[in-house]
Amino acid sequence: MENSWAFISFLWLPTLLFILLFCLNLFYHRKLNLPPGPSPWPIIGNLNLIGSLPHQSIHSLAKKYGPIMQLRFGSYTVVVGSSVEMARYFLKTYDHNFASRPKTAGGKYTTYNYSDMVWAPYGPYWRQAQKSESEIVTPKEFKEMLEELFLLNGVLDIGDSIPWVGFLDLQGYRKRMKAVMKKLDRFYEHVLDEHDGRGKNTSKDMVDVLLQLADDPSFQVKLQRHQIKALIQDLLGGGTESSMVTLEWAISEILKKPDIFKKATEELDRVVGRNRLVREKDISNLPFIDAIVKETMRLHPVAPMLVPRVAREDCNVAGYDILKNTRVLVNVWSIGRDPAVWSRPDEFCPERFMENKEIDVMGHHFELLPFGAGRRMCPGYSLALKVIRSNLANLLHGFAWKLPGDMKHEDLDMEEIFGLSTPRKFPLVAVPEPRLPLHVYSL
Ligand code: HEM
Repeated sequence: MENSWAFISFLWLPTLLFILLFCLNLFYHRKLNLPPGPSPWPIIGNLNLIGSLPHQSIHSLAKKYGPIMQLRFGSYTVVVGSSVEMARYFLKTYDHNFASRPKTAGGKYTTYNYSDMVWAPYGPYWRQAQKSESEIVTPKEFKEMLEELFLLNGVLDIGDSIPWVGFLDLQGYRKRMKAVMKKLDRFYEHVLDEHDGRGKNTSKDMVDVLLQLADDPSFQVKLQRHQIKALIQDLLGGGTESSMVTLEWAISEILKKPDIFKKATEELDRVVGRNRLVREKDISNLPFIDAIVKETMRLHPVAPMLVPRVAREDCNVAGYDILKNTRVLVNVWSIGRDPAVWSRPDEFCPERFMENKEIDVMGHHFELLPFGAGRRMCPGYSLALKVIRSNLANLLHGFAWKLPGDMKHEDLDMEEIFGLSTPRKFPLVAVPEPRLPLHVYSL
């Protein structure tokens, strides 16, 4: 008899334990208060609701589900913040928790396995990369490859959301990533070889500084060759493509509103005069040019949902539970169009920043975040602003811009394509006419 009791308890104990654990789990999960969002389908989650311009699809969904919303992209949970308040929570209050990046195909295949700064997980390597990059900056031109690189870093690769179909490369993005990286790698190898063989007396450029940092004994993680190449790529890519995309949008908006061109050139003629081009020191005296740049970045943020972050731990934001490893997007494209924040939000109106001069793009004003905010904010923002402001000022000072033939400004379409930068769908075609005496243009 004793034996049979022992046998029954032997069977029942694990069953009881299992039931107890199951109930505890149920209780814990019932207590979770997850952000609202559409019900996900098996396997694809909510990917069926995301079109070719994900920030716009997500903008429409946020109108229905609110400023904090939970979606499923295949097997991953994604939380999207679409208001000033949510941006402040994710990028300031809980920035330390959302300071890492998810692992994506773009990061793996186009940045030497997450060796650049953009896709590096939060930790000692990222901190070190940040130190290296902030010491050097120089823009350079190799446009086509960079355009492809930017596009592929922003695309929604199906294999990122549903990893077990990744190897099929259904959209062909991974093949393109590998192809463009092969070409870029050849270029970086050539540059590094050239620098290795250079004498000590030649003037130093950014690659020399990186190579020198790689030998720095005080660095906790020694920089390897592929990591140096990834950091060079950040500097070249960030330094050219995003600034050029912003300039193209600015000129497009101005072509649609000739009175803005008139106001800008009045300011330029008054401050700079017609006998020379704009110099860097003039920029602080050109508030209307600055207002055009801010207004362009409000309506056309290069990274409309910033670069994805990932939750390092479970966290509660605005009363909602966000679990570890959740991917987080902040839709600054939505925030830039929020009627609760901006009057006439769809209108290109730089004057709003003349009335509200204190709003800047440095990550302090959560209504305008083209460079993000917090720990992972763009480290290239001051270089980018210099490049954009001085180029825009000179393009407007030096040339009167017209649309080709008898094209009217209402015919100029403003469609975007999605990628890590968000350029015009159709490149801008415009006709520049010199507006200064000819001697000013000779170098
Ligand atoms: C119009 C010009 C630019 C725009 C709009 C822009 C925007 C951004 C944004 C939104 C992020 C992500 C921020 C976040 O997650 O909160 C970022 C990250 C980054 N940007 Fe830029 N950027 C520009 C130019 C540059 C330039 C010129 C450089 C380098 C010279 C650069 C290098 C980087 C790097 C390395 C990161 C990753 C930072 C990190 O993850 O720690 N960017 N940028």
